[in-house]
Amino acid sequence: TGNKRIIIAIDGPAASGKSTTARKVAEQLGYTYIDTGAMFRSVTLKTLERGMIDTVRSSPETIVSLLQDLTITFSDERVILDGRDVTSAIRENRVSRDVSFISSLGPVRDRLREMQQEMGRSRGVVMDGRDIGTVVFPDAELKIFLIADARERAKRRYAELAAKGASGSELPDIASLEQEIVERDRADAGRTLAPLKKHPDAVEIDTSALSIEEQVVMVRDLALAILRNE
Ligand code: DC
Repeated sequence: TGNKRIIIAIDGPAASGKSTTARKVAEQLGYTYIDTGAMFRSVTLKTLERGMIDTVRSSPETIVSLLQDLTITFSDERVILDGRDVTSAIRENRVSRDVSFISSLGPVRDRLREMQQEMGRSRGVVMDGRDIGTVVFPDAELKIFLIADARERAKRRYAELAAKGASGSELPDIASLEQEIVERDRADAGRTLAPLKKHPDAVEIDTSALSIEEQVVMVRDLALAILRNE
């Protein structure tokens, strides 16, 4: 397939299988995987840890003080926020609850978009999120939009949390996870800035009844077809 390197943008609602699919496709193509949700989660964690969430809710412009010295890097599947490994901390449910609000803020989106565009500058990346095909890389050669029904996504999230050893208030039941997912979809799709939306050129894949392997093969084959034709 030559030396051509493309950008693969994978967007879709919460827990639709984006990150697992994106990670495996990247692995098979020798590309870099970039989880942009982890970047919004990192900013949310930072806000919570600084005790600033209520302040930012009442005066959103105060978020800029947290963005000035922000660094987020990915290394060996770990997420490093301001020099510290936050890979598991950003998956906590308190982060999931506030991340839609934090990601609706203009200064946050501007800053993270710059970082994301820089990370994809030499192409050869699989990037997943909500607005990668529509806003961050509208010129991505392959755009995928993954969807799945909310109940199925709640079950996947539950299994993911349980597998990580979550318990008590960090492990809600499937019905409340489903409700949180539906609310997050509504917030992500309903916001003014870069809402979750399918790009007209994106290939939509419903993963409700697909295995991870099947999703990976579909996306990888689409990528290989592009690499062969260009
Ligand atoms: O993919 P995820 O569920 O980890 O993403 C967490 C939140 O981050 C999601 O609810 C909305 C926000 N997000 C975003 O606004 N834009 C992106 N490109 C990725 C995530």
